[in-house]
Amino acid sequence: MPTFLFPSFLLLLSFLCFPSPSSSSLLYNVQSFGAVSGATSDATSSFLKAWASACSSASPSTLYVPPGRFLLRSLALAGPCRSSVTFRSEATLLAPSEYWGLGNSDYWIMFINVTRLSVVGGVYDARGSSYWSCVASRSSCTGGANTLAFEWSNDVHNVRLNAPSQSPNTDGIHVQSSTGVSVFNARITTGDDCISLGPGTKNVFIKRVACGPGHGISIGSLGNTAQEDGVQNITVTGVVFTGTQNGVRIKSWARQSTGFARDITFRNIVMKNVYNPIIIDQKYCPDNNCPNQNSGVQISRVSYKHVRGTSATQVAVSLICSPTRPCWGISLKNIDLTSPGQTTTSYCEHAGGTASGIVVPKSCL
Ligand SMILES: *[C@@H]1O[C@H](CO)[C@@H](O)[C@H](O)[C@H]1NC(C)=O
Ligand SMILES: *[C@@H]1O[C@H](CO)[C@@H](O)[C@H](O)[C@H]1NC(C)=O
Repeated sequence: MPTFLFPSFLLLLSFLCFPSPSSSSLLYNVQSFGAVSGATSDATSSFLKAWASACSSASPSTLYVPPGRFLLRSLALAGPCRSSVTFRSEATLLAPSEYWGLGNSDYWIMFINVTRLSVVGGVYDARGSSYWSCVASRSSCTGGANTLAFEWSNDVHNVRLNAPSQSPNTDGIHVQSSTGVSVFNARITTGDDCISLGPGTKNVFIKRVACGPGHGISIGSLGNTAQEDGVQNITVTGVVFTGTQNGVRIKSWARQSTGFARDITFRNIVMKNVYNPIIIDQKYCPDNNCPNQNSGVQISRVSYKHVRGTSATQVAVSLICSPTRPCWGISLKNIDLTSPGQTTTSYCEHAGGTASGIVVPKSCL
């Protein structure tokens, strides 16, 4: 089940490409269903009616949002649809200005059970600032919602995601319990992970992504629960990290777990002033609730190939694995990570594998 999730709360999201809808596609304009531009009247029910018509069309259809500013509450666009559907917007869609306007919903806009879906154009302004201020003030803020959730959906390309670098716990794209997801051509700036891959994720291909500011691309956190699915067969290639906290990271809680991460490839990666360019951290325990525990998550067959650029810190490669489940099959090939004015180093704990080609800093495997 390919799932595209755009959590956590309220990103400003715009899709870059604006291809014209194919002339053979039936057009359902939300304005014909009563939607009024101007961002004051709620357009949710008009969108639902337009969707119902587009989705029940026997031939390919387009739900079209003309230029303007439309206010939407939680919107679930459900399939299955009879034919392919394009959601094409030239508008700015706005969430309620205060986060409680979404009630208890954990999403703003969600596509459920829709196959052959394309989402094209438009700006999605989920107006997260009231929620972020609430989180920053450490009061108990209800919920938090995903800006966009796509389930059973494909063909989401050229996505640009922007959230302020101070936005707490706001991942760009989070993929979990999903198989066969691809992310291409994305530019992601945020306050947490640009892309994170959670438990139960398989066969993911990530290509041509620009990440930063943000926390990098992360597999994990894994091992949060004792019984957990693993992560397997992940390829990340052609990514540029700029000023990020991490580059490519695998992290697991220091707890017992059935989780694992294996057959992971990071290649053709450029780091620009990244704090932890290559990092495995199996001692993750931010709440200190892991006394004397080691991670049960087995990490194996992880390859780093053609990774170059600059590290903002001396330790450019840090591989901290579990004492009870040491990492094996790590491979470093053609790594060139330098830092202005200092010699970079590697640090390993319980990490096994091989280095080949030119490897700077010197391998600790
Ligand atoms: C999605 O479709 C499946 C089968 O077609 C159905 O069992 C499920 O209830 C649907 N889910 C939603 C949320 O519509
Ligand atoms: C691994 O994932 C890729 C997609 O990135 C897929 O094409 C390939 O078939 C997968 N390999 C296996 C063994 O499942």
